[in-house]
Parts: sequence; structure tokens; C-alpha cells
Amino acid sequence: MSVWAVLAAAGSGDRLGADRPKAFARLGDEPLLAQSLKRLDDSDWIDFIVVAAPPGWEEPAILLAEELGCSKVSACVTGGATRGESVARALAEVPEDAAVVVVHDAARPLLSDEVIERVRTALNDGGDGALPGLPLVDTIKRVDDQGRVASDCSSLVEARGGRIKVVEGDPKLSKITEVGDLERVAALL
Ligand code: CTP
Ligand code: MG
Repeated sequence: MSVWAVLAAAGSGDRLGADRPKAFARLGDEPLLAQSLKRLDDSDWIDFIVVAAPPGWEEPAILLAEELGCSKVSACVTGGATRGESVARALAEVPEDAAVVVVHDAARPLLSDEVIERVRTALNDGGDGALPGLPLVDTIKRVDDQGRVASDCSSLVEARGGRIKVVEGDPKLSKITEVGDLERVAALL
């Protein structure tokens, strides 16, 4: 039974304001997407990767994976209008008998093996899903554009009666949203 990674990279990056989608914005010497591709591909645990690319950027995504020697990329789909839709389209490429699907955002380039291992351990210990998280100093509530409390992949598991374990995250896994974030993360490469 195989372990699949879905790489959500189809966003437009409006808040970044670059001349291209966020996944192809420069981080150091490479497109942002390169870090996530290499780190997922390097993981001993992960067997296959499906990339959700921005419309019109499927070919560059495949070429980048080839250039980097990421041999686990098995499909590249065109993303949808929302992250959820992009993930759903990528999931459609994952076979029914996959043991695990890991969903990762290209906007979080500094994925470490330690975080991957913590997720893996939580699943081995009987979790139906696992999510890296960090303790909060303040109380927050995530609300989407329509004013709904945002749902993520873990709520889908919970809606089906599954139990989600929260494992220790990593501050380096913070999301790239604005230009300043690119500079901050580039310094950590
Ligand atoms: N994402 C996606 N498909 C979408 C929207 C987002 O795959 N239709 C992905 C992004 O590529 C990113 C992750 O979901 O890896 C988190 O989204 P976000 O940080 O909001 O990225 P963007 O939507 O690209 O940025 P913005 O909201 O500023 O346009
Ligand atoms: Mg967005």
C-alpha cells in the first residue's frame, strides 16, 4: 500500500502580487514550488506525488519536477478556484487503495523531515489523520472570505468520524503570503 502526497500549488498568489502565480515566484535561486517538490520527493515514506498547478502552469510544473529529478511526481492536474477544489482534483488521481494521503501547501516551502516523521508516527499510532500545529499565544478563529469558519482537510476526516491528532509543527513551516515572507524564508534556506 502506497503513500501519496498532494501538493497544493494552484493558487494565484494575489497578496504576493508577483507577475506569476505564487508557486513560481522566486525563493532563492528557484521557484517556490521547488522546495516542496524536493522535500516530498526526498522523503522515504512518500511513494508518489500529485501536483495541483495553476491553470496554464501544468507544463512548467512538470518540467521543474523533471529538472529537479523528482521521480515520484505521477500526475499534475489543473487546480480549481479554491484550495479545496485543487486538492479534490489532485485526490482524483490517487488510487482508492492508497494507505495515506499527505496534503501539503507549496506556500509552506520549508517542510522538514522531522515534521513528516511526526505525522507518520501519529498515523502509525492509530490516528485517522494528523496535522502539524503550533501553540498559540492569542486566541484566533479562522474565517474565510464568505465569513464562514474555514474548514480544511482535517475537518473532512472528522466529518466522517475520523480522529485527527495534532502533532508538533515547526515555526519554519509558516506560510508565504506577502513579499516580506519570501525574504524572511529565503534567509532560512
Ligand atoms: N491553493 C490552491 N488552489 C487554489 C488556491 C490556493 O492549490 N485555488 C494553494 C496555494 O497554491 C497555496 C495554498 O493553497 O499553496 C495556500 O493558499 P494561499 O496561501 O492563499 O495561496 P494563494 O491562494 O495562491 O494566495 P492569495 O490568497 O494571496 O491569492
Ligand atoms: Mg488564497
